[in-house]
Amino acid sequence: MIITIDGPAGVGKSTLARRLAEELRFTFLDTGAMYRSVALVGIRANVAWDIPEELAQLARELTIDFSGQEVILSHKDYFAQEVVTSDLRSPDTTAKTQYAANNRTVREILGQKQREIGTAKGDLVTEGRDQGTLIFPQAECKIFLTATPKERAKRRYRQLKDRHIEADFATILAEQEKRDTEDETREYGRLYPAKGANIVDSSNLTEEETFEKLLEIVSKQKERNQKSTTNP
Ligand code: DC
Repeated sequence: MIITIDGPAGVGKSTLARRLAEELRFTFLDTGAMYRSVALVGIRANVAWDIPEELAQLARELTIDFSGQEVILSHKDYFAQEVVTSDLRSPDTTAKTQYAANNRTVREILGQKQREIGTAKGDLVTEGRDQGTLIFPQAECKIFLTATPKERAKRRYRQLKDRHIEADFATILAEQEKRDTEDETREYGRLYPAKGANIVDSSNLTEEETFEKLLEIVSKQKERNQKSTTNP
């Protein structure tokens, strides 16, 4: 079974999708990390950001290994099986990731890789922006996870404070709004709820309550699948 979880930045998709995959013993796919990886190779190669084909060529040549807990990149010129998990979340990589996300050829290359993983693994929890709409429109279980912009920014602010990192709420909110607009308006692969998606608004829910909701959605889908195999 393929479970897609799409939603805006800062809603907690990665944490919840990873937990769900562990609970179900499914493979977990963080597609945001793939876009971040392409941005990282672009930075390393000092790519011309205004020439989309240069970044697309790097994406074609890049191998992204997610099989363990870490993300490992290989590229003939720039990465020799290098662990990049924390580099993927640096502010510089985050800022450059829009170049990968807005590049149609890069989206096609990564989309192809995502479908191959889905076919090879069969049981998958995948999270991103376009997983239920464009990459796995046939997925049996689609979830759109959302929360109000203010609530998402509040969570991010608290997270940084907890780590004793200097943070300004208004800046976080403004940057998040910019990313939301980018995600919702990109020409190819934009963020919107897939047809038939279960919409989960976590604004007033704890992480635990949201996780319970996701489990409930999946277990209902499993029941439906069982019924349709016993009563075809
Ligand atoms: O989920 P994230 O913050 O790690 O995603 C990083 C960026 O990649 C984000 O700006 C949107 C983009 N992205 C995308 O366009 N499509 C996806 N399937 C996943 C992420």
